Amino acid sequence: MPKLTYLGHSAFLVEGTKGKVVIDPFLSGNPLAKASKDSVRVSAVLLTHAHGDHLGDSVEIAKASKAPIVAPFELANYCAKQGADVHPMHIGGAHSFGFGRVKLTIAHHGSAAPDGTYCGNPCGFLLTMDGKTLYHPGDTGLFYDMKLIGEMNKLNVAVLPIGDNFTMGIDDAVKASELLQAELVVPMHYKTFDVIDADPQEFVRKVEGKKLRGKVLPVGETLEF
Ligand code: NI
Ligand code: MN
Repeated sequence: MPKLTYLGHSAFLVEGTKGKVVIDPFLSGNPLAKASKDSVRVSAVLLTHAHGDHLGDSVEIAKASKAPIVAPFELANYCAKQGADVHPMHIGGAHSFGFGRVKLTIAHHGSAAPDGTYCGNPCGFLLTMDGKTLYHPGDTGLFYDMKLIGEMNKLNVAVLPIGDNFTMGIDDAVKASELLQAELVVPMHYKTFDVIDADPQEFVRKVEGKKLRGKVLPVGETLEF
């Protein structure tokens, strides 16, 4: 069973038998992160969009790991200009890597880098390792096609933003949980900044009220899915 470790904000380490990836590794400058970028060595960096709280240490981790950044085409090109190896993809496309399979999904959000460079559309990821599938929607508002994502994929775990203001808030994330029907939902993208100070336990209580399983994964902790 793959292991999912929460690194804080939207950053997760996912480890399977064939490799390890990190998603949206915003560690340096993240007040809630405990891991340093130097401790993260992976087979690939998966990057949903170019905002600083997701791009984070992606380029440095990719370079140090001699691993590609997997991202939407325009964002991959931006990272390549910073000297990283990249594997460009786009929404709706899937690719099988050595560590597992990645498919890009839509996300309703923006994607400009901290220096202002426009990096195309943001995405979410369906990541399948060892036959188990994780859904990481990136930053997004609620959208009804989450129902389709849930119908077409057996989701073993979904990590969902709950912080509101920039993404779904708690009640929209609860609705997303109902649409996705994942075996387990884990909240993310909360409390890092004052403006996203949502209560993850409230999210879990509301999810359980819908007869679904939710779990708060503290920063630094790991679960198997
Ligand atoms: Ni964002
Ligand atoms: Mn964000």
